[in-house]
Amino acid sequence: MSGQRVCVSDFEEEAKKVLPKAVYDYYRSGADEQNTLADNVAAFNRWYLVPRVLRDVSTVDMSVSVLGQRLSMPVCVAATAMQRMAHPEGETATARACRAVGTGMMLSSWATSTIEEVMSAMTASQGDGGVMWLQLYIYKDRDLTLSLVRRAEEVGYKAIFVTVDTPYLGRRWNDMRNRFKLPPHLSMSNFSTASLAFSEGNYGNDSGLAVYVAKAIDPTLCWDDITWLTKHTHLPVIVKGVLNGEDAVQAVSYGVSGILVSNHGARQLDGVPATLDVLEDVVRAVQGRCDVYMDGGVRRGTDVLKALALGAKAVFIGRPVLWGLACQGEQGVSDLLELLKEELKLAMALSGNTQMHTHREITLWWKYLPINHYSD
Ligand SMILES: Cc1cc2nc3c(=O)[nH]c(=O)nc-3n(C[C@H](O)[C@H](O)[C@H](O)COP(=O)(O)O)c2cc1C
Repeated sequence: MSGQRVCVSDFEEEAKKVLPKAVYDYYRSGADEQNTLADNVAAFNRWYLVPRVLRDVSTVDMSVSVLGQRLSMPVCVAATAMQRMAHPEGETATARACRAVGTGMMLSSWATSTIEEVMSAMTASQGDGGVMWLQLYIYKDRDLTLSLVRRAEEVGYKAIFVTVDTPYLGRRWNDMRNRFKLPPHLSMSNFSTASLAFSEGNYGNDSGLAVYVAKAIDPTLCWDDITWLTKHTHLPVIVKGVLNGEDAVQAVSYGVSGILVSNHGARQLDGVPATLDVLEDVVRAVQGRCDVYMDGGVRRGTDVLKALALGAKAVFIGRPVLWGLACQGEQGVSDLLELLKEELKLAMALSGNTQMHTHREITLWWKYLPINHYSD
């Protein structure tokens, strides 16, 4: 661990210095005025942890089972596209770091490394942990979509996270101003044609990625497509991008194995609630019928504990991993993950929790309403 970087924002500050402006902007930005982007982080400060004392916290076990796999902690890596813009080894470095730390990585459909090479990087590296999941965008071309699923199945990915919040790309002002596209030496490696690999094309004055999504991604997506996907894979399917209890109930009825409460890191629709603020509604609606995960704004060990207290089985982190990667490649990502692990361990010990309890055992207060929110 670098002596200099003691919190996630130290990684971001350093990353900002080394990344080209258009890349930093792409990684950092949210949609429109970025109100939800700020709120995703701020939401964690609306809750207090209320510690229990005298509980022998000399040993803390953070391990957790996620989709049938044992992980060393309930902090996993969310899909973030185009990681080779942050570091030449991109997603392969992230995979190696996940293995070393013993956690799971969700690979973006828009990775700048192939499904196969990321899996080989993970399995060939040091450590006995690590699990790979595939994040899936559903393309207008369904055969192409299924070919991604098949490739993931063949090399041992353990689940499919299907993103349901991106029928079109959100308006990210910086990317529009920068006319964001991939640097010429990179491509979305899982696709063989240049237009699908986002490596060439006429994107006009817009964000190139917004143009790409409008051309390639299927905006007709609806619940029947979840049935279509679950029929075509033996892997567990998790819907990524649910913010509403009724949608969560619907998802359960369509046989998903999990729900990831996510607003896409506030990059899609500005003005939606912070994910932490809707987590409880979703957990309540699901009534234990499948696992609920969350992402968005998790920056500290105490954030992780608060999300668990509100019912998440595990959390995912997006941008912090990119900052680790930009700072120092694999080492940077593993330092970043270790930092969160250490922070979580301390938060658990100092709040009197020694295991990944069911959420009702971690006590929380909401800052603005002195109610017992567990009263129902
Ligand atoms: C630069 C960047 C790229 C992303 N790419 C994808 C993607 O390809 N697919 C996807 O489902 N979500 C994508 N996301 C959303 C993340 O999976 C995740 O939901 C979000 O980053 C979590 O919020 P956080 O960054 O505050 O931790 C991306 C997010 C960022 C910041």
